[in-house]
Amino acid sequence: MIVCSCAYVTDRDLEQAVLEVMSQPDAPLPTPGVIYRQLQKKMQCCGCAPLAAETIYAKMEDLEKRGLICPCACASVKSRIKDLINTPERRVSRPLRSAPRALPASAPARQKIGGSSGSTL
Ligand code: FES
Repeated sequence: MIVCSCAYVTDRDLEQAVLEVMSQPDAPLPTPGVIYRQLQKKMQCCGCAPLAAETIYAKMEDLEKRGLICPCACASVKSRIKDLINTPERRVSRPLRSAPRALPASAPARQKIGGSSGSTL
């Protein structure tokens, strides 16, 4: 399956790169950036980033189940991801839509502009 059409990256490429990255001593987090760097590829439009991340973590789970990568390394990665997600900066909730701003009390009143249509600014 093609994951990235810009850099032509398949799920098999991602699996191989995850295996290589996770086999390194003190393995870095296998983010899409790290994995693409391992493949010597570079994202262009980044439209594949969500699918790439999903595929990378699915491949990591699969490789762990098949005994090809150390379960301790996987546990460490999952723990670090969980820590990243739970950092206070990430927990800030933003309203979906900002409330309309009230006009300041000193705002000029709308003025009628010419013509008989009575349109206003
Ligand atoms: S689809 Fe992957 S960078 Fe564009």
